[in-house]
Parts: sequence; C-alpha cells; structure tokens
Amino acid sequence: MKKHKFLNIILIALLASFCLMVQNTFAEDQLIKTPADYEGPFYPVTQQQDIDNDLIQVKGQTGVAAGDILNLSGMAVSTGGKPRAGVIIEIWQTDPQGRYKHPGDSTPGERDPLFQYWGAAITDTDGTFFFRTLVPGAYNPRPAHIHYKVLQDGKTILTSQIYLIGTDEREKIPSMTSQIKLQTIDLKPTATGEFEAFFRIVL
Ligand SMILES: [Fe+2]
Repeated sequence: MKKHKFLNIILIALLASFCLMVQNTFAEDQLIKTPADYEGPFYPVTQQQDIDNDLIQVKGQTGVAAGDILNLSGMAVSTGGKPRAGVIIEIWQTDPQGRYKHPGDSTPGERDPLFQYWGAAITDTDGTFFFRTLVPGAYNPRPAHIHYKVLQDGKTILTSQIYLIGTDEREKIPSMTSQIKLQTIDLKPTATGEFEAFFRIVL
C-alpha cells in the first residue's frame, strides 16, 4: 500500500471516531442535571424501626398518619435519558404542621407517632421509584419542600430538595434560580381524595 493511501485511511478512521464521539456527547447531554440544593439542618439523626417507602404507616402501629396523602412517583435517569437502576433515594420532610422529627427542630407541637418523617426507596430496572407520604407543611420563610439524597454504592451522589409550589409562585420567590423548575412538582388531586405527583431526577 502506498504511504499516502495508508495515511488517508488513518485520517478517515480518526475523523469517523471523532464524529461518533461528538454524536455521543450530544446524545448524553440532552437533559440538564437536577440541581443540588441545601441539605438543611434536619437530616435524620435518630433510628427508626421502619425505613421504607411508605411514610404514612409505621411498622408496629395501627392507623395512618394524619394529613393529605401524597403518592410521589418518580424516575432517575442519566443526562442521556437512560434509566438509573438500583440507586437509593432517601427522603425526609415535615409533617403537615411544618415539623421535622429531629431534636434540633424546636417547632412546638406533638410529632405524629403514625408518620414516618423519612424513608427510602430503590429505583427499579426502569429507573422508577415510589413514595407514599404526606403533603408537607410550609414553615416560614420556606415554601413546602421534601429533602432528598440519592445514593449509589454507599456514596451520596446528589443532595437536593423537591419544591411543592405552583407554576406562578415559582417566579415570585427571590432565592430561587431559573433552575427551580427542575426541582418542583405540581400536585394533582386523585379521584380518591389523595394527591399524586411525578418527579424526575437527572443524574
Ligand atoms: Fe427543610
């Protein structure tokens, strides 16, 4: 083979792999990563018997927690839109009165013994997860929110918050960035008097 022909083949091969790399980069960058947010001071520090994805029923207790029930489903995906299976989602939140179950929260009033206040779910092979919880109460000056962490292989890969605020309220909160839209859910009432919402986490 002549030297210039050989060089041409090498050049074409390099160009083809470069094009593929650029194509893959664009494919991977279709979605914006979910922004990180403050952990806040009320990450759970006490043990509880029950750490599952059903926060309105506590193991060993009869009855359900008092408040509006929220069926929160979601999906964890990569920036390329591929499901992220087997990641752990931990949530912690207030009850409808805006109280955390945390020794550092001095908000007065009894904590609901039937409410779990925090829980965990693992994403399925299709990246989906589900929590049955209560609509949290807002506490001054913050809008109602649910804290969460995403863990993989025992390491926290994202700490953030889900905001429960209406579309028109989002623009009115000065501390919120334009990315707040990526952190909010809209509650929809269900036929059974509960609420449902969907939240996507892009990792
Ligand atoms: Fe909080």
